Parts: sequence; C-alpha cells; structure tokens
Amino acid sequence: MTLPGVLLLDAAGPEAGLLAAAAAARGHQVHAATTAMAYAGYGPELKGLLAGRIVTDFAQPDRPLDEIAAYARRHGIGAVLTVNEYLTELTAYLCAELGLPGNDPGRARAARDKAAMAEAFTAAGVSTPHTVLARDDAGLRAALADPRVGFPCVIKPLSGAGSAGVTVVSGPAGAAAAADAARAAVGMYDSGGDPRVLVQAFAAGTEYSVESLIQDGTTTHLAVTRKRVTGGPKRVETGHSLPVSLPPAVEAAVHREVEAAIRAAGIRHGASHTEVIVGADGRCVVIEIGARLAAGQIGVLIQHALGIDVWAALLDVALARPATLAPTARGYATVRFVTSPRAGRLTSVCGFPKTGSGVPFVRWRAVIGGLVHVPGANGHRLGSFVVTGPDADEVEERADALLRRVRIQVEPILENGPGQVRPASTSAIAP
Ligand SMILES: Nc1ncnc2c1ncn2[C@@H]1O[C@H](COP(=O)(O)OP(=O)(O)OP(=O)(O)O)[C@@H](O)[C@H]1O
Ligand SMILES: [Mg+2]
Repeated sequence: MTLPGVLLLDAAGPEAGLLAAAAAARGHQVHAATTAMAYAGYGPELKGLLAGRIVTDFAQPDRPLDEIAAYARRHGIGAVLTVNEYLTELTAYLCAELGLPGNDPGRARAARDKAAMAEAFTAAGVSTPHTVLARDDAGLRAALADPRVGFPCVIKPLSGAGSAGVTVVSGPAGAAAAADAARAAVGMYDSGGDPRVLVQAFAAGTEYSVESLIQDGTTTHLAVTRKRVTGGPKRVETGHSLPVSLPPAVEAAVHREVEAAIRAAGIRHGASHTEVIVGADGRCVVIEIGARLAAGQIGVLIQHALGIDVWAALLDVALARPATLAPTARGYATVRFVTSPRAGRLTSVCGFPKTGSGVPFVRWRAVIGGLVHVPGANGHRLGSFVVTGPDADEVEERADALLRRVRIQVEPILENGPGQVRPASTSAIAP
C-alpha cells in the first residue's frame, strides 16, 4: 500500500528537518514547498530525503495556494504541515482546499498578524494586554496617551517574529525609535514599508509558553515552558526550560486562557505555542499564539524530558490518525542560546559543547569572520545547546556551567562600517 505523501511548507531549520526525517523514517514520501533562496540553504541530508519540491514565491498573495494545491494533488499528498511561523495561514488554506485536517482558514490570520490576534482575543474574552494599532505618527501619539496603555509599554511590529523590532518603552522619549525599529522589522515574506505598529500595555510577571497539540478540536497540553528573557528595552530569549510545574490554581488559569486563545485563533488540528505572562498575583495574560510547534528547540526539550515524540505526533494529527501524547519519561530539559557580548566581527569560538551524555543536541550557526550583534532579536543567536537529565537543578547548573565555558572573540568594526549603519528616525513623538 502506498502511504500518503507529506508536504512541508518550507523545510528550513532544525524543527522542519526533524519532522521531515520522522516522516521519511515512517515510509512517507516527503515533499517541500519552498523558495529558490530557502532551497539553496537546505543541507545535503535534507535534500537527499526529499522526494520532490515545488519552488514558489510565498510573498505573492494567491499564487502559492493554487500552485501548491495543484502540486499536492499531482503527488498524492495526504498531510500538509509547517513549522514556519510565516506560513501557518497558508497551511490552513491549503488543508481546507485539499480536504485535509487543518486549522480554520477564516481565523488563521489571528495567529499570524498581531493586530488581528488582539482583536480575536478581545472578542473571545482572552486576557491579553490592551493593544492599540497605530497607523501613523498621529496614531502613535494617541496610543501613547491612551490610559489603558501607559508606561512602560511595548511597541512591536504586526507580523514580526523572533522578538525582532519589539521594544519595551519606558517613556515618551523612546517611542519614535521603537516605532522605527518595529517598522524596520520586516517579516520573512513582506516587502516592508508598512507604517503601522502596535502599542501594547506592558504585562509584568514571569514568562512562560504552553506547548499544546490539538486533534479534532481536543487540546492536550504537552508542557509549560519557562522562558529566560533578557531585561531592558530589547527582550531577547536566552533559553527555555521544561517541564515547569505551576501551582494547580495558576496552571488551571493558564490552561483556561490558552484554550480560549487556541479557539480564538481557529486551531483545530496541529500544534500551538502560546506565550503567557503570569503576574505576582497569579493572573495570566496571553502575549501571543502561534499555530505551530514552538521554535528554539522546544520540541527537542519535550522529546528528551517527557519522551513524547512530537514529530510523530504532528504527523499523526496531520494524517488524521490518533496521536500518542502520553509522557513516557519524567525528566527535565533546558536549552541555552549563545549570543555575542558585543557587535563586531566574530574571530574565534572555543568551548562550545559537543553532543554527549546529557547533551543531546547542539547547533552552531554563526560563521567565523561574519558580523555578529548584541542580541536584539532571536536571529542574533550564534548557537544553542540542550542539556537534559532527571533533576531540574542539576540540569540548570550544568547548562550554566557549559555556557560559561564558551569563549567568543569579537573584533570591533568601524562605526558606520558594514552592518553598523543606523537608519534615520522617521517618527517624531511629542512627549
Ligand atoms: N505586552 C507585553 N508585556 C510585557 N512583555 C512583553 C509584551 N509583549 C512582548 N513582551 C516581551 O517581548 C518579547 C517579544 O515579544 P513578542 O513575543 O510579542 O514578539 P515575537 O517577535 O513574536 O517574539 P518570538 O517570536 O520570539 O516569540 C516577549 O517574549 C516578552 O519578553
Ligand atoms: Mg513571542
């Protein structure tokens, strides 16, 4: 019997690679819909396991849907998945078009565009920070004067990801530069030039994400993840750890909000990654939701800490088969992201861990001789490694010790040299 083909909407990145490998190992023919540029970056292993590919242009509004649907029909595709934040809406439309298990296309924008998300959350009664869409500088001034926003507030792009262009603004003086940064953070397939930004009330508390799998509208929460995030105006993730056990009443409140967010975003079949902030009083607000598995190696953490094969589970959901989600282990896992202490040219790295006992995953992605940045977005990570074991404290200590051993040499580059040019401010905000 021929198994249905599996189509990934872009297969770049470690999560997509693991998903592709899992599908191929189960005997499915794996296909990728990709762009010419992304395909050029696929490694030989990934290229070797693909049975076929369709090269398209995800920046076009309708073309990819028609082209990919036609390709899927020609190649007996029985499951369409993505781990790419920017392609979750297209995936929902494709699944609907092909009659495959997928999310509600009519609501899928809410998991992609943070203005639509804020609207959908508010309409569904999800606790979320008050959010104002500022269409121009006058709108920005009005948003900053809105008593439901106040200071500090957060200025962010509508459709960004990876914390790019997100700034915590402590007073009116920083707002213009923050709005510029949000406008400059162009999404993967956007052409830029959108003057709109979001201004959001700041939620104080501890950040978590909830990793869930939804099958036929039934949600299973796989884990709560504690996020390590830098303080200051640029909140960049420095690591994740799971599973976190919250006090039962807090966990119940978090799950309630997350489930409401999942429904609001029309997530019916597949993974969700919901970011929440829990205040000192135990109240939970939802910062955002993604209709996909978490990035940043959280899938690898779930696999090693809890023994859940998330890749197999994602495939099962996409193929309308019952997924196996019960944990088979009771361990703990954490990932640390290596970043540069300063901007410049990376000249050397030593002490980066290798895989071995308790270190199941390492990934180095920076190039010696290349430009590196003070972390301002997740894209500035140089590498990452995962540590796992039975005891949370020991795992955290070991991860910190391994991180301290990493030595990075960065040579300064001239002010206004390549990569150092600062765009002029295009906003003027009166205090
Ligand atoms: N309303 C808020 N209150 C407090 N902190 C916030 C708020 N919004 C964003 N942040 C901080 O900024 C970070 C990035 O924001 P957000 O998650 O909205 O951006 P993103 O680009 O989707 O990031 P990522 O893809 O890394 O999740 C959050 O993880 C959090 O630390
Ligand atoms: Mg986020």
